[in-house]
Amino acid sequence: MKPLAERTEQLKQSNIRAITLMLQEVDGINLGQGICDMPTPEPIKRGAHAAIDDDKSIYSYYGGILQLREALLKKSRAYNRIPANSVDDIMVTVGSTGAFVATILTLLDAGDEVIVFEPYYGYHCNLLTVMGASLKFVRTTALDWDIDFEHVESLISSRTKAIIVNTPGNPNGKVWSRDELNQMATLLKKHDLWAITDEIYEYMLYDGREHISLASIPGAYERTITLSGFSKTYNMTGWRLGYAVGPESVITKMGLLADLIYICAPTPLQHGVAEAFSMSDNYFADMLTSYERKRQLMCTTLEEIGFNVPWPQGSYYVLADFTPLRERFEGFDDDMQASQTLVDRAGIGTVAGRSFFAEEADGDSCLRFCFAKEYDVLEEACRRLKAAFPPSA
Ligand SMILES: Cc1ncc(COP(=O)(O)O)c(C=O)c1O
Repeated sequence: MKPLAERTEQLKQSNIRAITLMLQEVDGINLGQGICDMPTPEPIKRGAHAAIDDDKSIYSYYGGILQLREALLKKSRAYNRIPANSVDDIMVTVGSTGAFVATILTLLDAGDEVIVFEPYYGYHCNLLTVMGASLKFVRTTALDWDIDFEHVESLISSRTKAIIVNTPGNPNGKVWSRDELNQMATLLKKHDLWAITDEIYEYMLYDGREHISLASIPGAYERTITLSGFSKTYNMTGWRLGYAVGPESVITKMGLLADLIYICAPTPLQHGVAEAFSMSDNYFADMLTSYERKRQLMCTTLEEIGFNVPWPQGSYYVLADFTPLRERFEGFDDDMQASQTLVDRAGIGTVAGRSFFAEEADGDSCLRFCFAKEYDVLEEACRRLKAAFPPSA
């Protein structure tokens, strides 16, 4: 038989799924996958029920229903301070992942170079690779994940087309500062580059940090496609709704491509999620209070056990270094073994550090923990971790 397309050759199932399957067998708790198991807010659910009952069942405009795009325009201007001009600068997509695919299909040709910061979100790199882009990595390290902009600039060549910015970040929780975003905006302009920003954790910020969108920096909007979604903010990863904000000329092409791939995001669910904008702002404050408590529990537990813990500045993950545990426990030679050890001895799922680096060795002493769990489930997970790996006296 003729072979499958070359782009499928590097595709393999991530270790996240393998861990999920193992955990099912031992009735374990999965702190690996970035899914929040809290309920979706009632107004959103009611909105979707009503839309289904009202037979709002046909394809929507490929860029999304007007009511939702209007709400997103207002939100993008007010919360993100993005100077979006009209609803034509907004498109609703199948998850922010759908928005990312539409963006890279629109901006990149095979062979174009893209700069990505490590530790990275794997989907970004895998999709860019499938698309034939060539990746250049900029390493950042704990505790602060500071960016060496001279190094970034040294990687820019005539083939460089775009830079990926993920703030707040997965897996390390880095929140980009205004100073960093200003420096990035300067580079974009100087070298005529596009920026693709993934801001899906934009409401999860700790220690009084502020979410700043790159597109809000003067001069950056025309070169930036801002991606976000509803999965994380409203606990609805399975609904598959996200969006992109950017200059109309780019969004129009992205919409035409998305139309070819899936026509539109599910219409009744778009009506449902539009109800999110009628909810009070207390929703965000309450969510934050709840995540702050979970971050505290997760990070102090890991510190008590002996991990080096760079407390996340935002998002709901912590990328913890287990090097100090090697002296006290068996099974921590590398990240794959450590991840297996946590399943075997505590029934806890994590993600091996190598998933976030181009070179496996760069992630071989860390694990990612996701603390987006109901509090009592997280408490139980922490209890199991401490029982299996007793804190040193
Ligand atoms: C950084 C980042 N972007 C995007 C996504 C996926 O978002 P969506 O469900 O909107 O496709 C995730 C999910 O884990 C993520 O961590």
